[in-house]
Amino acid sequence: MKKDSELAKQAVLRLATIDDADAIRKVHYDAFAESEQQLVAKLATDLLDVETNKGSLTIVAEHKNQIFAHVALSPVSIEGREGWQGYILAPLGVLPEYQKSGLGSELIEKGLSILKETKAEIVFVYGDPKYYGRFGFNTEDAEKFSAPFDLEYPFGWQAMPLTQTENEKQPVKITCVPALMNPELW
Ligand SMILES: CC(C)(COP(=O)(O)OP(=O)(O)OC[C@H]1O[C@@H](n2cnc3c(N)ncnc32)[C@H](O)[C@@H]1OP(=O)(O)O)[C@@H](O)C(=O)NCCC(=O)NCCS
Repeated sequence: MKKDSELAKQAVLRLATIDDADAIRKVHYDAFAESEQQLVAKLATDLLDVETNKGSLTIVAEHKNQIFAHVALSPVSIEGREGWQGYILAPLGVLPEYQKSGLGSELIEKGLSILKETKAEIVFVYGDPKYYGRFGFNTEDAEKFSAPFDLEYPFGWQAMPLTQTENEKQPVKITCVPALMNPELW
């Protein structure tokens, strides 16, 4: 375990390309439970297709040609609100033997810093608040927005504003890129 965490510390972060598809698929297939692994691995590789999922950002952690971890951040939109820029972080996965070495945190921080430079206003995530809360994601800011589909775990719907956000009078619905518009993911 010690050896693996040392290797993880040497990993460098870089933007992913379509050539990384097999390695990214393996990261999520191995990281997630059996009930989710197929679905999440497919989502991760679908998001590499930037033609159909325009504007998506994918980052991998790599060392000596091995990919240990991956995150994707893809744009979300609100009908009738041109120019509004939001993103959703999904999926995030770290190979089991390299978990708890800081790679997940590094990928999140890197993704958020890139988005801050692009003037993104808010980032959403649907996951464990105990993990994502430490980065500033919270359920209160997410309440002003509804996810594209009914949520199996509503407590997991979180957001983090990157700039001053408008105070919505009632929740506005967001739309994601095609890869995420699958009710099974929510
Ligand atoms: C969740 C995950 C991405 C975290 O990445 P990681 O590199 O292992 O985590 P980090 O090293 O950045 O952070 C480790 C810390 O997060 C905590 N943590 C990890 N997974 C957690 C979870 N699901 N819930 C709460 N805390 C979690 C660890 O206990 C550790 O806490 P500590 O710093 O107090 O010791 C990774 O464990 C993973 O791939 N898990 C399986 C897939 C998954 O659940 N992905 C997220 C879907 S929303």
